[in-house]
Amino acid sequence: MEKTFIMLKPDAVQRGLVGQVIARFEAKGCKLVGMKLMSVDQALAEQHYAEHKGKSFFEPTVQYIMSSPVVAMVWEGKNVVALARELMGATNPANANPGSIRGSFGMDISRNVIHGSDSVASAEREIALYFRPEELCDYRKAGEEWLSE
Ligand code: CDP
Ligand code: MG
Repeated sequence: MEKTFIMLKPDAVQRGLVGQVIARFEAKGCKLVGMKLMSVDQALAEQHYAEHKGKSFFEPTVQYIMSSPVVAMVWEGKNVVALARELMGATNPANANPGSIRGSFGMDISRNVIHGSDSVASAEREIALYFRPEELCDYRKAGEEWLSE
């Protein structure tokens, strides 16, 4: 089953949105297989956003995810990488569908509440950055049999 890396960014934690955002993934039918509240240090933040090194928003974005604790999570499900991006909405909350997480809870691109891997390859890389294999749980979840044929 596909896995994706999701981070509730510092603004989500500080604004008390952790429960509401997790509830959307649960309600959709995704399975939580890893989760921790943690602080991100400079080295990890720079690796996380390595693809953006050199861009104008790189430094402020690295500082942003280091500014306060984040919730790092791994969610599992059918096509969950693309599904999570749909649930999250566009990068800029100002343009995001109002039903999406960023569209519901954010105002500005610099404080957009949530990160989610953009491809299966990114998900593998990001999960490995944040979690040791033994920190992920492999389990059967009640109701799974009601999610698809
Ligand atoms: O997070 P996502 O994959 O949707 O967007 P990205 O283009 O990979 O950018 C990574 C993050 O950098 C965004 O989620 C924003 O936090 C930040 N960013 C920003 O502050 N200003 C921009 N113009 C672009 C991105
Ligand atoms: Mg991205």
